[in-house]
Formats: sequence, structure tokens, C-alpha cells
Amino acid sequence: MTDKELIDLAKKAAENAYVPYSGYTVGAALLTEGGKVYTGCNIENAAYGPTNCAERTAFFKAVSEGERNFTKIAVVGGKALNFADYFAPCGVCRQVMREFCEDDFIILLGKNDNKYKSITLYELLPLSFSKNNISE
Ligand code: THU
Repeated sequence: MTDKELIDLAKKAAENAYVPYSGYTVGAALLTEGGKVYTGCNIENAAYGPTNCAERTAFFKAVSEGERNFTKIAVVGGKALNFADYFAPCGVCRQVMREFCEDDFIILLGKNDNKYKSITLYELLPLSFSKNNISE
């Protein structure tokens, strides 16, 4: 699975985004250590609070299928499937990533024209709080 292939899967997943309120379509594609990919989109709600981000959709799909080990996630976001700028995952999604991933987990930020940046979870969430803090 190349970075471009993973980003393309994230773009495809964004087509299912349910965004009647913001119009901001997000797609994610999460790669497991075993090479499987779980995709996700954002799913909004009239009560706003229950909205689920694309990254968490992908993580929760994967974890609910028994996956625990991940190497990379690709994300894209933009109005009406136009991924004009890089967008970085929100704070809640960063914390969910931290639950299952270490500092070296890779986040690919995709945009139009096959451009992307690769960053680590440590860069997104330094000095994080994790299960290591509360283990014996
Ligand atoms: N959103 C995501 O899907 N992922 C993020 O990391 C940030 C925000 C979604 C939530 C909402 O549906 C829309 O983008 C605008 O905030």
C-alpha cells in the first residue's frame, strides 16, 4: 500500500460524508500492521454534539473488528470534496489515535493534485496523556 493509494482511499471515503450542516467533507483511511485498510467519513447530527469525525469512524470500525495495531492514517478534508488545503485532525481524534498508537504513528495529510505531507503522532500531540500514565 503506497501513501498515494492510502490517500486515494481517504478521498473515496469522503464521498460518503454525511455533512448537511457544515458541508465540510472528510475522509480517512487507516492502515493496520497486517496491511488491511479501514476507511471512515464524518457523520454529522442535527444536535451537533453527536457528530463523529472521519478519523474516529475509521478507528472505531477497525477496533470493533478486533484490530489493535496501526501504522498509518491518511486524511483529507474540504468543502464539497474539494481538498484545497491541508487539514489536520482535531484534538479529540488525536487523543483517540494516542489510545492505540505510539509516537511514531504516521499521519498523511492529503490535498488536491496528489500533494501530501507526512507527520507523526508525536508532532500532532506532544506531551500526551495515555494509558502509560495510569498503568501500574
Ligand atoms: N471533522 C472531521 O471529520 N475530522 C476532524 O479531525 C475535524 C473535523 C468534521 C466534523 C464536522 O463534520 C466537520 O468536519 C466540520 O467540523
